[in-house]
Amino acid sequence: MSPLLEATDLVKEFPVAGTAGLFTPARKFTAVEKVSFELQAGQTLALVGESGSGKSTTARLAARLIDVTSGTVHLDGQDITALQGADLIEVRRQVQVVFQDPFSSLNPRHTVERIITAPLRYQKRPMPGGARTVARGLMERVGLNPDHVDRYPAQFSGGQAQRIGIARALAVGPRVLVCDEAVSALDVSVQAAIINLLRELQREEGFGCLFIAHDLAVVRQIATRVAVMTAGRVVETGERDEVFDRPQHEYTRKLLAAVPRIRPEWEAARRRNAGKVNV
Ligand SMILES: Nc1ncnc2c1ncn2[C@@H]1O[C@H](COP(=O)(O)OP(=O)(O)OP(=O)(O)O)[C@@H](O)[C@H]1O
Ligand SMILES: [Mg+2]
Repeated sequence: MSPLLEATDLVKEFPVAGTAGLFTPARKFTAVEKVSFELQAGQTLALVGESGSGKSTTARLAARLIDVTSGTVHLDGQDITALQGADLIEVRRQVQVVFQDPFSSLNPRHTVERIITAPLRYQKRPMPGGARTVARGLMERVGLNPDHVDRYPAQFSGGQAQRIGIARALAVGPRVLVCDEAVSALDVSVQAAIINLLRELQREEGFGCLFIAHDLAVVRQIATRVAVMTAGRVVETGERDEVFDRPQHEYTRKLLAAVPRIRPEWEAARRRNAGKVNV
């Protein structure tokens, strides 16, 4: 059976600003270089790596928010790399994205009802019982008070605003949820609540989750598998505990060693195994 989402040899080049001249072609910067991964339904694949390693670009390529320079993306066995028009809109329904800053991704002048149901209107989907009923139902599902359906984003806390973003993503029944640093801006206790919510929703809905985070403590809580990125490449992929407890690549070990909030028992396991790995 084909994976839910499969990226193969993804490459993304960006032009370097101001380098093109009459006799000098624009230089290119390769943000993502031959990245491949597989995501299965009901699983969470975490992309980790330092700032600028290409995590967000990879996610945007996989979600078809930007076009690949080369490589392919398959959703449920279908090549979605070059889809356009109505087919691309359908991909956008199936692959939803939750971003880091909830407030900047929520229109401050729209009520929660309008925000949450926007993808349904865009996708021309039915709203049984009307927009209000649908919005209230989704608010309940993400742990928000449905009586706040007429409020504006500024009237919510950061954690609540992120729940609104998750409700909006869930509205269209995605098969894949891409969370790009979706809990990074939140306090640790709020982070834990949102992670629990995501896990619960995943159990109920069975979506695959591409979860991007630089915080490895967060990744350890949610990931099924982990892909480690540096300088645009995936250098290590494996089951979560494999990667955390027996990191194979030098860079992964450095990344793990640099984590300030890692739990003591993981640290002990890492030290126990440190001498055993080859590189
Ligand atoms: N639209 C763009 N134009 C030019 N360069 C870009 C563009 N988007 C990203 N880049 C560059 O590509 C590289 C990878 O960026 P990306 O945002 O994917 O990193 P990241 O791993 O998500 O980092 P962070 O953890 O800081 O979010 C960076 O050097 C970035 O400056
Ligand atoms: Mg990023």
